Amino acid sequence: KDPRLARISSAIRVIPDFPKPGILFQDITTLLLDTKAFKDTIDLFVERYKDKEISVVAGIEARGFIFGPPIALAIGAKFVPMRKPNKLPGKVISEEYSLEYGTDIMEMHVGAVEAGERALIIDDLIATGGTLGAALRLLERVGVHVVECACVIELPGLKGRERLGDKPLFVLVNGDA
Ligand code: PRP
Ligand code: MG
Repeated sequence: KDPRLARISSAIRVIPDFPKPGILFQDITTLLLDTKAFKDTIDLFVERYKDKEISVVAGIEARGFIFGPPIALAIGAKFVPMRKPNKLPGKVISEEYSLEYGTDIMEMHVGAVEAGERALIIDDLIATGGTLGAALRLLERVGVHVVECACVIELPGLKGRERLGDKPLFVLVNGDA
């Protein structure tokens, strides 16, 4: 196991009962304050993806916008934001997905990607997998090949991985749900 992972794991602060009672919140803002752990996080993804011929890094609002761009720059890929509804000014393609209560919508600009491109999807955390699943469907609908989904943290107890079908998911560390 890579020795960098332990430092990354301990740099993530866990806050109980946020945003509501019973939730153990995985706070990556403390990882961003640890310059070595933040760099190691980006480096681990870059080492894994640099030779995979990826032309698109798709980052999910909001926390996927923190980790996606440095990875995109380092591997020579473009960065495409996957946004909450009514934020993108151009023509969009939308995908609805289910949350614990109700549904949400994810949007991407039409023309940001072309059919046949190879993409990596980045977010900070996978819980139920609803968010990553929506990003995957959105990219696949426009003919993009998603090479892998990647997150800093997985909450394995929530089995979010199962919502990605047979698409591979790479994570650095596990958290408790
Ligand atoms: C959190 C997290 C992931 C998502 C994971 O984002 O950053 O994007 O939830 O949950 P899921 O696997 O159950 O779909 P959130 O929607 O809280 O918003 P933020 O990133 O804008 O802070
Ligand atoms: Mg998020």
